[in-house]
Amino acid sequence: TKTLKIAVIAGDGIGLEVMPWGIRCLQAAAKIYNLSLEFSEFDFASCEYYKKHGKMLPDDWKEQLSGFDALYFGAVGLPDVVPDHVSLWGSLLQFRREFDQYINLRPCRLMPGVRCPLANRKPGDIDFWIVRENTEGEYSSVGGKMFPGTDREIVIQETVMTRTGVDRVLKYAFELAQSRPKKHLTSATKSNGIAITMPYWDERVAEMSQSYKDVSVDKFHIDILTAHFVQRPNHFDVVVGSNLFGDILSDLGPACTGTIGIAPSGNINPTGKFPSLFEPVHGSAPDIMGKGIANPVGMIWAGQMMLEHFGYKEASAAMLKSIENVLSKGGDAVITGDMGGRGNTKTFGEAVEQDILAGSK
Ligand code: NAD
Ligand code: IPM
Ligand code: MN
Repeated sequence: TKTLKIAVIAGDGIGLEVMPWGIRCLQAAAKIYNLSLEFSEFDFASCEYYKKHGKMLPDDWKEQLSGFDALYFGAVGLPDVVPDHVSLWGSLLQFRREFDQYINLRPCRLMPGVRCPLANRKPGDIDFWIVRENTEGEYSSVGGKMFPGTDREIVIQETVMTRTGVDRVLKYAFELAQSRPKKHLTSATKSNGIAITMPYWDERVAEMSQSYKDVSVDKFHIDILTAHFVQRPNHFDVVVGSNLFGDILSDLGPACTGTIGIAPSGNINPTGKFPSLFEPVHGSAPDIMGKGIANPVGMIWAGQMMLEHFGYKEASAAMLKSIENVLSKGGDAVITGDMGGRGNTKTFGEAVEQDILAGSK
């Protein structure tokens, strides 16, 4: 069997607390399904590293990480220590851009056992994917500040949409929709107000839809789309959006399914030329760090997405099943506080690990 080489970057805050459970669950799956996983830990891409070195990453980070199949990433950011735009732009956003991880794939699924804040929704009612453009759009480095410190100060940050960049994320989203029973794609837009880039986005969606006649397509402006997420989440199957819209929707979606603490993501370079990165959607949560109460599901589920990405079907299905088992049957003492329980990172992580080791299917 091939060895999957995984670079582990835990980062800051609760990233450091949930990562060990992600690794333990992956190791449990590897044991039961005879996978060969090799983990190598890195201390860079953290604010601790920044304090020592005055930068988030060593100069040769790309060489150090290029040989890995995947990066398993916790979370970065301690805004009281390093400004967020310095720590995040200097780490996670570099990985996404330099490794051309142009797809950010994020599930929104109402899981069994999780209390839904929306009325009358049960598992199965909310089950869709967000496909977020991940390398350009509103997250651009084009712009600058002029006349700093004067009353003529000007700051500009241009949204960048390239034909290649837009088309490749749309293609991925159309193909994902095509693979699902509902075959439905929703595009997030704002072409009424952002009248250059967003009409272009719509134009590319319309043109591409000609090549995917079996996929039904609709589009909503981002403002009303957020309302639909809350009021009719059952409508959605695959939702595609620009970098910023996808970011916002992928906190809202998981919040609608109970907690952002369970949401995972795959930052994918579909060509395989560079490593893909798997991480929870949530951040470093400085407000709860050090307490051991963070929900580890986002981290564990991200590991599950990683195995699925590499085609380990049985092992990834088993991991997902174990997450569902513990969510639905773990009980009050195991479930973490963000889901209404009295448990903590360890009680939950251990329960998933044990469930995987028990070979439950
Ligand atoms: P956050 O996701 O860290 O936290 C938002 C809220 O959700 C907080 O109240 C937090 O306690 C709670 N929460 C998040 N994850 C949880 C979990 N697993 N279990 C229980 N509760 C959880 O977002 P934020 O507060 O906007 O950002 C905090 C820091 O994290 C900032 O520095 C930010 O830039 C950074 N951040 C990093 C990433 C990343 O590395 N991918 C993502 C988002 C935010
Ligand atoms: C996410 C995060 C990042 C983003 C931040 C931390 C830069 O919010 O992964 O969703 O905006 O992409
Ligand atoms: Mn986000």
